This record gives sequence, structure tokens and C-alpha cells, in this order.
Amino acid sequence: MNIIVVGGGGREHAIIKSLKKNKTINKIYALPGNGGMADDAECVDIGAKDIDAIVDFAVKNNIDFAVVAPDDPLVLGAVDALTAKGIPCFGPDKRAAIIEGSKVFSKNLMKKYSIPTAEYEVFSDIEKALDYVKTAPVPVVIKADGLALGKGVLICNTRDEAEKAVKTIMEDKIFGESGNSVVIEEFLTGPEVSVLSFTDGKTVVPMISSMDHKRARDNDEGLNTGGMGTVAPNPHYTPEIARRCMDEIFIPTVKAMNSEGRTFKGCLYFGLMLTPKGPKVIEYNCRFGDPETQVVLPLLKTDLFEIMKAVSEERLSDISVEFSDKSACCVIMASDGYPEKYEKGFEIKVNGELDGDMFIAGAKMSDGKLLTNGGRVLGVTAVADDLKSAVDKAYREIEKVSFENAYYRKDIGKRALEAVKEA
Ligand code: AMP
Ligand code: GLY
Repeated sequence: MNIIVVGGGGREHAIIKSLKKNKTINKIYALPGNGGMADDAECVDIGAKDIDAIVDFAVKNNIDFAVVAPDDPLVLGAVDALTAKGIPCFGPDKRAAIIEGSKVFSKNLMKKYSIPTAEYEVFSDIEKALDYVKTAPVPVVIKADGLALGKGVLICNTRDEAEKAVKTIMEDKIFGESGNSVVIEEFLTGPEVSVLSFTDGKTVVPMISSMDHKRARDNDEGLNTGGMGTVAPNPHYTPEIARRCMDEIFIPTVKAMNSEGRTFKGCLYFGLMLTPKGPKVIEYNCRFGDPETQVVLPLLKTDLFEIMKAVSEERLSDISVEFSDKSACCVIMASDGYPEKYEKGFEIKVNGELDGDMFIAGAKMSDGKLLTNGGRVLGVTAVADDLKSAVDKAYREIEKVSFENAYYRKDIGKRALEAVKEA
């Protein structure tokens, strides 16, 4: 079995490490991967958005299965193009990936099928959007319609801020064409939970829940990032809430996509907020979350490749997907200054054996040395019997890793542990 994994970050490294446990797989290529995963996959210098080159590579190298991990190639139709050449894939086709690719689509879907989410209005005319925010209750949330590297959501505490946000998205086009339309929505409150799920369009199997930490600095201060750490399971996600989410959100979403003729096959990610009025959807992603994957997959007991194949062949109901009852914590080590300006090119050193996993997100090999090459450089994941031990272990292990200019949050898991105490 020869496999390609499209993408090149920590999430892809975690997927590759899980796939490697399957003994029928001979070879895994990462397109483009990064220098830090060279021990686990052969990295090929093809960008994740270069669909033609991806397909060409897959055909020429007798690829038996493709895993398309990032949002961009999914939304651009990588799965459609690979499938057209007879290559089975894990990931939604373009028609289904729109659930992440357009917030206007996903909000309208939820409204049409009564899936709980924040109240909202859609605008493609800037004057009408500006009029609306003049009287909208604040805080108010303004979202660019399309993909924006996870940065297209602006939470505005005053109407002035909201007016500025509308202008930067729709007039200055800071997110490009993604800002042609905006969703303006009600501000919700409550703990956030990430639930990734496997679905083949018939069955939906939620994975273990997790909690992301999106802000750059401790105590959830600083700018929004791609994620500075995660824990799993998320203590806010009780069995009772899980049942409600299954009935009110997960199954209705999969059915809604079928009804729209947009059957979703792959990993469907539910970004949820547990509001006083019940769980609501904040966002859908059409793929594994990053860095949620770095805590979820290390707890997966079932063979990942078997699940992916079953999803692709629409026989997920035949498989029993099991997770360990342990806990995991992932702490992201970034270049100081991220998500704004930062320096790169520093050597990454590991002092001794790591008792855990190191997933590399932004690094390259140069003269036999592994050098930092991005904002988020790597994640260290520890698994232990309970959340507190997993958090303590992740922080103990990350001490063994160093590079000049390294920065990481010191409070990953703190809120989750407080929630455990309150329960
Ligand atoms: P998104 O990119 O849609 O996940 O949004 C990024 C973050 O903005 C979320 O993780 C939430 O913390 C916050 N957010 C998004 N929508 C809302 C909302 N309606 N109310 C409150 N916070 C929100
Ligand atoms: N961690 C959120 C995301 O992957 O978008």
C-alpha cells in the first residue's frame, strides 16, 4: 500500500504517525510535509494547493490511497480530482467541503435544518452591513464568508469597532475575496468544545472531545492563533451533552448535507459552544482540527487507516471505533512573536528521550540539522491516566526540547482542570 498525505503541519505529522501503525502500508509520502517528519514519511516538494501536481504525482507513483488534510485543497476539489483518476481518498469532495469553505452556506444550512447556532444576518452589500451594525446589540461577531486562515472572525465590543470590522473585511478586503460577503452574528457565551467525527454520510462516529487554546498568551490574552495547545477529553463535554449534540447537531448535520446532495465523507469537525441555552455550533470544519488532532489521534485505539478506508468505502458502521480512557495534553512550541513577526532558522534540539510524541509543524532540514521554519514549530503531546498527569507530563517533556526564541503558553489545560474540580 502506498499512501499520500496532503499537507505539511503538526496535524499531518500526527496523522502520518497514526497511519504508520498499519502494517499493510509500505510507504507514506507527505505533500509537501516538512523536514521534521522525514523519519516518518518521504516529503515531496509539492504544495498542498497544487492539485494538478498532486494528482500527477499520485498517478505516477501508483498511490493506493490519499488523505487530504488541509482545508484549502479540499475546498479546491483535490478529492474530486484524485477520485476521477481512480484513487480512493479520505476527505470530502468539493461540494461537501463548502460546509467550511463558505460560512454563508453553513449558516443557511443550520437555519434550514434547525441546527442550533447563533442568530445571524448575511450581507454582500457593505452599506446594508454598515446600517445593520448601527443598531445591532454588542458584542457582535463579524465573519468573512470564505477561508481566512482561521483569522476571519472579528469579535466587536462596540458599534464603532463593528463598523471598522465591516470596512476592513468588505472594503479593504484584508481576507481577499473571502470578504465579499459577511455573516454578522449574535455573540454567544459558554465553554468551547471541539468534536471531530468520522462520517461516511450514513454513520457518524464522534471522536474523543477536546479543547483548543486559540489565543497567543497565557490567560487567553493576545492575538488569535492557529492554536497554542489542546487537551482531550474536554471535561465540559459530559455524556449528557454528548447525547444532545449527537441528536441535535451531529446526525442532523450529516442528514442535512445528504438532503442538499452534498454527502460528506471524511472528518467533520464541530466547533461547539455550550451556551446557557444548550450546545450550539460556532463553526464546522471539513477536516481534522489542528492542534486537536495532536491529542485525539494519540488516544485512538482502532487502526486509523482501517477507519479511513471504511469511510471511503461507505462502510463505517462495520467498524468499532475505540478510544483509550486516558487523557492527553499537547503544548505548542512557537517562535516568539508568532502570530505576528518572528525569526526562524534556529536549530531544534532534543535533550534525551521524549516520553511522548513530538509533532513537527514548522521546520526544515539543513546540513543535517533541524531548523525552525515557521510560527508554530512543534507540539509535544503526553498521554497519562488523568488530565492533570497528562498536563504535568507534557510540561515536563517539553523542557527537553529547545531552540532559540522558543515560546509556549504555560497554562494549557488550566481551565480544563478547573472545570474538572468544579464537576
Ligand atoms: P471560528 O473561526 O468560527 O472558530 O471563530 C473563532 C473563535 O471566535 C471561536 O473559537 C470563538 O471563540 C469565537 N466566536 C466565533 N463565533 C462566535 C460567537 N457567535 N459568539 C462568541 N464567540 C464566537
Ligand atoms: N483548531 C481549530 C482549527 O483547526 O481550525
